[in-house]
Amino acid sequence: MPVQETAKLNVRKWKDFDPANNQCVKTVPQLMGIVPAHFADTMHVLHEEYGLNRFNWNLGCPMAPIVRKRRGCGLMPYPDEVEAVVETACNLPYRFSVKMRLGMHSVDEGLEIVSRLNNYPMEFIVIHPRLGKQQYEGKPDLNALARLLALTKHRVIYSGDVFEMSDYQILSRRFPQIDAWMLGRGLLRNPMLAEQIQEVATRNDDSSQFNNFCGDKDSFKKEKLLRFNEFYEDLKQTLTAYRGINGTLPVLKELWHYFAHSFQLTEEQLHSLLVIQTPDAFDKAIKRLLTPDF
Ligand SMILES: Cc1cc2nc3c(=O)[nH]c(=O)nc-3n(C[C@H](O)[C@H](O)[C@H](O)COP(=O)(O)O)c2cc1C
Repeated sequence: MPVQETAKLNVRKWKDFDPANNQCVKTVPQLMGIVPAHFADTMHVLHEEYGLNRFNWNLGCPMAPIVRKRRGCGLMPYPDEVEAVVETACNLPYRFSVKMRLGMHSVDEGLEIVSRLNNYPMEFIVIHPRLGKQQYEGKPDLNALARLLALTKHRVIYSGDVFEMSDYQILSRRFPQIDAWMLGRGLLRNPMLAEQIQEVATRNDDSSQFNNFCGDKDSFKKEKLLRFNEFYEDLKQTLTAYRGINGTLPVLKELWHYFAHSFQLTEEQLHSLLVIQTPDAFDKAIKRLLTPDF
């Protein structure tokens, strides 16, 4: 959420932050802004309203309208401004963390910021190892990440291109000092990826069967489909509670762009889902897809 001065804040509209709506997970609001006093006001109000005491700052968003306003990754070339916010936030009785990229234009920006952050008690830093100007193009630059890791005193959480179990395995072998992994698009493609990684990480298990929902063994495939069905029903209910049935359909369609990977849908199959106009017809099409024919 954008930070604001107290008089302009209407945090009640941010009902996602209400712990009553997040009984399974601890909420950490992500803040976006540039004015230190606005961070302080927003954190205080969120604490008073919802009892929240952990906050994350988005220094990584690469979207042009955000970057133009020097928000998100657009602030990374300005270390003094970054430090002013961090200094204010870290003097408050809350835990504060940052989500960042390697830099906007160059990794030198990330190195400067990481060295400044070393002077403050950050809870952690999440690093997505691409430059802002890359948006989501190219590959994460792991050599640049290694330079940031060598410099930082803080716990680092990795974020970027963990789509399969093998991605996690390669990265965790290369960076044994990283003990927390943030999943984005990979988790959208396969909502079970986090628990699968956790299982393999704790049991040192064979990962070959985890690559998608369509593993070799029918029993495995059936179990994964059942789990996905449960997850999908839950998701639909939650979305419908917030957005109503008609408002839920566009969100589900957006998500099926990601789920399609795990179900190995062809372009045509995905397209035939996306052109469906009514929630009812969409539901029926998904049910057909999710009913196993073993
Ligand atoms: C559509 C989209 C929206 C995103 N929104 C946010 C956001 O609000 N806050 C944030 O910290 N990162 C956001 N990200 C970045 C992800 O958290 C993550 O760092 C990035 O996608 C790389 O990780 P991944 O390859 O696992 O997706 C977003 C990414 C995408 C693709």
